[in-house]
Amino acid sequence: MGQSTTCVAFILEINKMAGIFGPISNSIRLTEFSIRDAYTLKIFENNHTRLPSWCNDEDDHLPFCQIIGEY
Ligand SMILES: *[C@@H]1O[C@H](CO)[C@@H](O)[C@H](O)[C@H]1NC(C)=O
Repeated sequence: MGQSTTCVAFILEINKMAGIFGPISNSIRLTEFSIRDAYTLKIFENNHTRLPSWCNDEDDHLPFCQIIGEY
């Protein structure tokens, strides 16, 4: 039997292993996160000048890079 997880806990676990949460990593319980919690974390680049030029070509009101889809 392998491990099982939810989509959001899986993505956040990857972020955690990558060191995104820094010194508080060990205090974070990822299974407590909702999807909304995940995308409202202040871990994403929000400076337009640092985003790739193809980001938000058609939707420049977003403060982050929306790769695909509306949400
Ligand atoms: C955005 O990034 C550019 C390039 O790194 C920098 O010069 C500018 O000060 C940044 N703007 C803000 C609001 O942080």
